[in-house]
Order: sequence, then C-alpha cells, then structure tokens
Amino acid sequence: MKIDVITLFPPLVESVLAYGVVTRAKDRSLILQTWNPREFAKNRSQTVDDKSYGGGPGMVMKYQPLYDCLQAIKAQNQGQIIYLSPQGRLLNQKKIIDWSTQDSLILLSGRYEGIDERLIENCVDEEWSLGDYVISGGELAAMVVIDAIARLLPQVLGNEDSASQDSFMNGLLDYPHYTRPDVTNGVKVPSVLLEGNHANIERWRIKQALGRTWLRRPELLDQLELSKAEQQLLDEFIAEFNKQECD
Ligand SMILES: C[S@@+](CC[C@H](N)C(=O)[O-])C[C@H]1O[C@@H](n2cnc3c(N)ncnc32)[C@H](O)[C@@H]1O
Repeated sequence: MKIDVITLFPPLVESVLAYGVVTRAKDRSLILQTWNPREFAKNRSQTVDDKSYGGGPGMVMKYQPLYDCLQAIKAQNQGQIIYLSPQGRLLNQKKIIDWSTQDSLILLSGRYEGIDERLIENCVDEEWSLGDYVISGGELAAMVVIDAIARLLPQVLGNEDSASQDSFMNGLLDYPHYTRPDVTNGVKVPSVLLEGNHANIERWRIKQALGRTWLRRPELLDQLELSKAEQQLLDEFIAEFNKQECD
C-alpha cells in the first residue's frame, strides 16, 4: 500500500514508522511518502498561509501550494484524498479496515485555522476527525491513521491473530487481559484463565467482551445481531453484574 501525506512537517509524520511493531510495515507492505506544500509555493519566501478574509485571528493555508502539491501526487497516486479535520466524520475501525484494503491513499494535514474552503470543495473526497476536540495540526491525526492501517497490513503484527481480536474488529470491546504473577497486590487472575480448559476460556472471553461493551459502549451492541449463545452469555453477565451491585 502507498500512503502520501501532505504536511508542513514531514519528519514528524515520517516518525510514525520509526517505533514499535509498525516499523515492520515500512519494510514489508507500506510505502509512506511525505510532501511539503511549501515546495510548491510560487513566491520567493515560499509562503503557504495568509490572513483570513473577513478578518479574525489566525492564518489560513493557501489554495495554490496545496493544489499544485495534490496534482503532483495525483500523477502517481489515484487514491482518495482524505482531509483530517475536526469537522469530519468520527473515525472508526470500520473505516480503517476499509482503507487498509486500498492500494493507495492521500492524507492532507491542515495547520493554522485550517485550509482554504475551496480546496476542500474541489479536491477532497472525504473529511475524517479523530474526535470532538481540536489539535494544532493534522499530522498527529494522519499518524494515527497510518499506525492504525499499518497494524492491519500483512506481516506487520507478530501474531496474525492479534489484530482480529482487538476492540471493534468484531463490533465489541476486547476482553480483559492478565499476565504473571497470578496474584498481585492481593488481586487474583480469574481462575478460569489458569485452569487450561480452552473452551471455558473462550466462553469467558466472549462473555467479558460482551459484558464490557454493554457496560462501557452499549450503543455498539445496538449495531450487532447477537447469536442465541452470545445473548445468553450477555444475560449471564448482566445478571451477575446486577447481583454484585445489590450485594
Ligand atoms: C487548529 S486546527 C483548525 C481548527 C479549525 N479552525 C476548526 O475549528 O475547525 C488545524 C488543523 O489540525 C487538524 N485537526 C485539528 N483537530 C483535528 C481532529 N479532531 N481530527 C483531525 N484533524 C484535526 C486539521 O487538519 C486542521 O486543519
């Protein structure tokens, strides 16, 4: 997969593949290329921003350097142009999975007050947001997208299963995880995990994933059609939870 990123800070974006498991993507399945719109600015001081029409604080990224930069990218990458923006739709794992199956993608990072609206109207295919808060630039958002995609690409995670069991991959939150020792600070690991019965462990994990999702993100359950067995596990979890609350 090829991801082109438009950014005023290329080294920042490139650092996303410098640490941890996603470094493997760089050598195996992901080509990351950064493009600095400053290099496409036509004036001598390579200005990429200007004052906002109508007044008010802050600068706005100019149309021309971004447009020319996009044309240069488009000559070699036909992927969708995604603008990372607090005004976009809320990013989710479904979208990340979809992007991870594409051949290419173009990510546009804004700075200042954002970018000239005409560029968004003319060139951007989709706007996506990290969440309902504002960060200083789209670089961190682009890095989040790149990391989330990279870990889904083949041969990136050590255990191919670990991404498929993550939260949101099957519509649920992940079950709780524990590691040695089996008692720490007086708290024991759930006994089922120590008994070696794989069917029971699997049942417990599904029940915890369902229960956690019910407790923390009930709206996710509304989007799922639970099997009879899953509904039974969730009912068990709810009954146990309610009993604990009463005790
Ligand atoms: C300071 S922000 C501009 C915010 C803009 N004035 C607004 O209120 O909608 C600068 C850039 O950071 C990026 N950005 C900020 N918050 C973001 C978010 N929640 N998700 C994705 N990108 C974001 C965008 O690329 C944006 O152009």
